[in-house]
Amino acid sequence: MRQLIAGNWKMNGMSVQAEALAGALAASAPLPCDLLVCPPFTQIARVADRLRGTAIAWGAQDCHAAPSGAHTGDISAPMLADLGCSAVILGHSERRQNHHETDAQVREKAIAAAAAGLLAIICVGETEQQRDAGQEIAVVGHQIAASLPDGFAGVIAYEPIWAIGTGRTPTIGEVEAVHAHIRAALIARLGAPGASLRILYGGSVKPDNAAALLAVAEVGGALVGGASLSAESFLGIGKKAVLF
Ligand code: PGA
Repeated sequence: MRQLIAGNWKMNGMSVQAEALAGALAASAPLPCDLLVCPPFTQIARVADRLRGTAIAWGAQDCHAAPSGAHTGDISAPMLADLGCSAVILGHSERRQNHHETDAQVREKAIAAAAAGLLAIICVGETEQQRDAGQEIAVVGHQIAASLPDGFAGVIAYEPIWAIGTGRTPTIGEVEAVHAHIRAALIARLGAPGASLRILYGGSVKPDNAAALLAVAEVGGALVGGASLSAESFLGIGKKAVLF
């Protein structure tokens, strides 16, 4: 299977930068992986105009659980599908922390995403304190059990919170251990289909550490924040992708 390299632009990108970045990606040579970019809501249509007809997909960073209605400031999954989005990131730690999103809310959003035909990328990961206390397996296991709807057919992104935007990454052994546990948890939760879902690693993935991280067993790609804001570094990561 091809790895998925997904870019999470977070709250970055005015029109000029989004146009330039999407344009550079659109002009790039095909890579041996699936590429996805998730701009802020305000730039999705612009990015879609650039990427339509290329092999690069686009998505969003969140959605509401309801298809429409009185939810001021929110964006629904069908609205994203209407923009040609094929995926949505859900339960990113910045949303869990800054917006107090719960596992139950993430699960409801994942149901909405699937109903709209979107691939849900559900993020899980422990804090530094939880890692120091040796709780990462328990924390991630609980998030998997509680955030995934029945029949989940999306993607998991393991993102240790202490590795996000910090330049620090877990050791290869640490990534391997958590990914192996996530695989077992997916099979326990979903049965046989859980064996083939992609599990991304995220947290300070850069071109110079991508080869080592993407070669780890059960790593099905990467969720990239900071390094996805430059076509050169995002594509530099994509070039390190392997078949798994
Ligand atoms: P980072 O962010 O690559 O900047 O560490 C990853 C993420 O939050 O998805």
